[in-house]
Amino acid sequence: MSPDLPFSQACENNKAPILEVLSQAFSQCISILEIGSGTGQHAEHFARHLPHLSWQASDQAHYLPGLNERLKRAALVNLPQALCLDVTQQHLPVGRFDGLFTANTLHIMSWSMVESLFQRLDKLLNDNATLCIYGPFNYNGHFTSLSNQLFDQSLRSRDAAMGIRDSEQVFALAKSQGFSLHQDCTMPANNRLLWFKRQ
Ligand SMILES: C[S@@+](CC[C@H](N)C(=O)[O-])C[C@H]1O[C@@H](n2cnc3c(N)ncnc32)[C@H](O)[C@@H]1O
Repeated sequence: MSPDLPFSQACENNKAPILEVLSQAFSQCISILEIGSGTGQHAEHFARHLPHLSWQASDQAHYLPGLNERLKRAALVNLPQALCLDVTQQHLPVGRFDGLFTANTLHIMSWSMVESLFQRLDKLLNDNATLCIYGPFNYNGHFTSLSNQLFDQSLRSRDAAMGIRDSEQVFALAKSQGFSLHQDCTMPANNRLLWFKRQ
């Protein structure tokens, strides 16, 4: 533990079940781009336990100092310093990856930012890429739990553009970029891991 670094208890709780899915989903991948790495706990955990991957973390500029300090202390050969990356940027400072992971970002981004993220996939990812998105989602217009409904209310009271997304809208956006849903994994605490493949 590094008590002086930004820390998320949720990441500590969910990193093991997410790793279980990613070890299958990214088994044939070499390079992964993570969008919205936040504290970097996920990046450190997945890079440590999936050493066949080069894990490229990224986030908006104000997250980078804490994030990069954690990655520096991890000192893993497959975990370079994080890139400054906002999905609304016109020019992305990165090459091509064969997998993309993002956790708990779609309900924080406005819907137009979510659309930007998907529009960028073509430039960011190789043809046979894998896409894994973790977080809470709605199904058929319904929350999957009371806790998700309350979480959605708290997000929208912070910022009206935030909110839990409809899975069907996310599936449609993914399809528009050539990705089809391979597995919709049920995760602890009413979350999902949406695993898409482009073939
Ligand atoms: C709730 S935090 C999740 C952080 C981490 N992935 C986790 O699971 O703990 C939301 C993240 O989305 C990122 N984010 C929000 N808008 C973004 C944008 N336009 N481009 C890139 N990242 C964005 C934030 O910077 C933040 O790291």
